[in-house]
Amino acid sequence: MTQIATQGSHVVRIEHLKDHVGRDVTIRGWLYNKRSSGKLHFLEVRDGSGIVQAVVFKGDVAPEMFEATGHIQQEASVEVTGAVKEHGKLKGHYEVQAKDVHVLARPVSEYPISPKEHGTDFLMDHRHLWLRSKRQHAIMRVRHAIIKAVRDFFDENDFTLVDAPIFTPAACEGTSTLFQTDYHGEPAYLTQSGQLYMEAAAAAFGRAYCFGPTFRAEKSKTRRHLAEFWMVEPEVAFMDLDGDMELAENFLSFVVQRVLTTRRSELDQLASEKREGDEDFWKRHLAMLENVKAPFPRITYHEAIEILQKNGHPEAKVGDDFGGDEETVLSKQFDRPLIVHRYPMELKAFYFARDEKDPSLALNMDVLAPSGYGEIIGGGQRESDLDRLESAIAEHSLPRDAFEWYLDLRRYGTFTHAGFGLGIERTVSWICGLSHVRETIPFPRMLNRLGP
Ligand code: 4AD
Ligand code: MG
Repeated sequence: MTQIATQGSHVVRIEHLKDHVGRDVTIRGWLYNKRSSGKLHFLEVRDGSGIVQAVVFKGDVAPEMFEATGHIQQEASVEVTGAVKEHGKLKGHYEVQAKDVHVLARPVSEYPISPKEHGTDFLMDHRHLWLRSKRQHAIMRVRHAIIKAVRDFFDENDFTLVDAPIFTPAACEGTSTLFQTDYHGEPAYLTQSGQLYMEAAAAAFGRAYCFGPTFRAEKSKTRRHLAEFWMVEPEVAFMDLDGDMELAENFLSFVVQRVLTTRRSELDQLASEKREGDEDFWKRHLAMLENVKAPFPRITYHEAIEILQKNGHPEAKVGDDFGGDEETVLSKQFDRPLIVHRYPMELKAFYFARDEKDPSLALNMDVLAPSGYGEIIGGGQRESDLDRLESAIAEHSLPRDAFEWYLDLRRYGTFTHAGFGLGIERTVSWICGLSHVRETIPFPRMLNRLGP
């Protein structure tokens, strides 16, 4: 690991304490929690890499220091020096026998997020501080691991990273969720998806992916919708819908298995939280994650309608789009992620290729996460015929001018191609077993929230 100069070269990150057993080290961080009993203060200190207990024994430090330590407030920044010891009872845990405790900065008043329970609105308003808590720390570390695994998968499989623009002249995923902005006097839109640009990239690189923030002016207030979310979008030349489904299942299996091995302690941290009324949740959840291995079950949209009709949705009929309830019923019939393919064309964006056997169907697919976490991947095969694509643009009343460049991809060496988009936040929500996407992104943007 590269040395990073922080103030004081003897400072050790808490996650590396195991390499310093028996030696004196200094840790620098913030006071997470504290308890005292007569001759002892137990300080829980966090430094971003972990939390360690520093034991301050009355006989080991000057009397004024022992007295002052008893008054350190939550989230004061502190520096603690002492010997690293293996924890008496917990294997693999370490503590610091403190010789020196210094407060670097005292909070100006009581830290707003005390260890007691707080409401969600209050916590969201204090998101900049809430990120310091154990649960949020674990979620963000899982998020990082998911993103790393996503990149590793594509990088190791010959994909070239091609960044898509954020300001765009036109809609990709329908005009109802566009964020409009002013671009030097012209209207522009925040991107809904990098897909159209990845189609250009597929013709240039064969296999390409983009990974970046995307925007949807979603008017719905649900546990799965953000106004700003991160999406990874691969696009592959000469790949059809079957290849797309295979890519999606191999990709998702890789990501989940990688996170299960690299972020076990964070998942255990999340699993340690009580779930009223569902004590077995994590046992089932982890078993389900272990089970995410290709191939995934595949059903057509029409088969999905039949399953719904037989399972509490007798009113379901061809032409309906699936909401959260329907996706939950469908995913609960299977023991791993489910692929639903070939939806009616009228439910789908303009760019999908049609099924030759039944032109009313799109060559699209959605991957639904298990246990009701809903759609995490959407994608499919693109229309490669110039005339049909021109008609589709007209039928969707899209501004032809803005799509001329996109039509060029069909004018010059058109080719079968397919791809998909995976939403990072819904994936984090599912893997971490959360009930809402708001905790999956550091600073969420939602219908009623633009701050902090
Ligand atoms: O199904 P969507 O809209 O597909 C596309 O945007 C394609 N152009 C992708 C492609 O083929 N390159 O979105 C893809 C995924 C969804 O499955 C979901 O995981 C996520 O993006 N997503 C959202 N996540 C959070 N909040 C929202 N409002 C989301 N909308 C979509
Ligand atoms: Mg979709």
